[in-house]
Amino acid sequence: MADRTDADLTDDDRTDADRTADGGLAEHVAENRRHWDSDAPRWVAPGERLWAQAEPTWGEWGVPDDQVTLLPTDMTGLAAIELGCGTGYVSAWMVRRGARVVGIDNSEQQLRTARRLAGEHGVDVTWIHGDAEHVPYPDRSFDVAVSEYGAAIWCDPDAWIPEAHRLLRPGGTLAFLGNHPLAMICWPPDGSSPIRGTLQRDYFGLRRLDWRDAVEDPGGIEFNRPISDWFGLFDRTGFDVVRYDELQAPEGALPLSWGGGGADQARWAHRWPSEQVWTLRKR
Ligand SMILES: C[S@@+](CC[C@H](N)C(=O)[O-])C[C@H]1O[C@@H](n2cnc3c(N)ncnc32)[C@H](O)[C@@H]1O
Repeated sequence: MADRTDADLTDDDRTDADRTADGGLAEHVAENRRHWDSDAPRWVAPGERLWAQAEPTWGEWGVPDDQVTLLPTDMTGLAAIELGCGTGYVSAWMVRRGARVVGIDNSEQQLRTARRLAGEHGVDVTWIHGDAEHVPYPDRSFDVAVSEYGAAIWCDPDAWIPEAHRLLRPGGTLAFLGNHPLAMICWPPDGSSPIRGTLQRDYFGLRRLDWRDAVEDPGGIEFNRPISDWFGLFDRTGFDVVRYDELQAPEGALPLSWGGGGADQARWAHRWPSEQVWTLRKR
């Protein structure tokens, strides 16, 4: 890793930097903080399972690591950041592969789980409470930026993609995994399950998915884009697309985070892509 500028900062040096210009939280950041602080208890058990695995698996369907190129297998000496780290198991795998890692998350309650698990597993990560759209690190601090269902779906792409670009060194990698836009247009807009096999909303213009009034699992504001819009955003920002994957749920899989409706969702995701993985390189 070349000339790191920030390696000596600790958790205590950080401030919560997720502020708009007028000093308040953006609406979606405030709502997502409330949502995730209240939802965090539901993620303790999945986080514990994932931290304890002998090999990483990724996404809602537990796709094995050798089928998804989310992380390099050797990260020796690299500086890495996880944007929306949640319970932190992606950060843990980056440390285990040799990287020095910062995990930023908007929810203090999620970070509470991450800190505990890191302590129990003896994994050293710098945890920051803050907004992945405004990360308190200098330009070109990192070689790798990653998100698995963190900034990838909960942050505004017009904000977090340029922010990830700013944080990376030229040639650095941004990899993220989140919902496939096809899945988002097949979820009923009222948030009822199961996901449908027919289109439920427009594809063109797909942007912001506000689940605050959802009939099931209400809360949170997500973001997504038509695939061609993602390509355009990456190009305008200064990223080249290295790889694009659409993940298929294995036969008989059950989703990590869902109880009711899970089997229907799994059958859907075996037929159509529910998850996408982008791997980008900063020009
Ligand atoms: C599904 S979890 C991430 C899963 C993660 N891979 C794990 O191991 O737990 C989504 C996370 O994104 C975080 N998040 C949402 N908005 C964020 C923002 N603006 N900045 C940073 N983190 C955010 C939430 O607080 C939550 O912990």
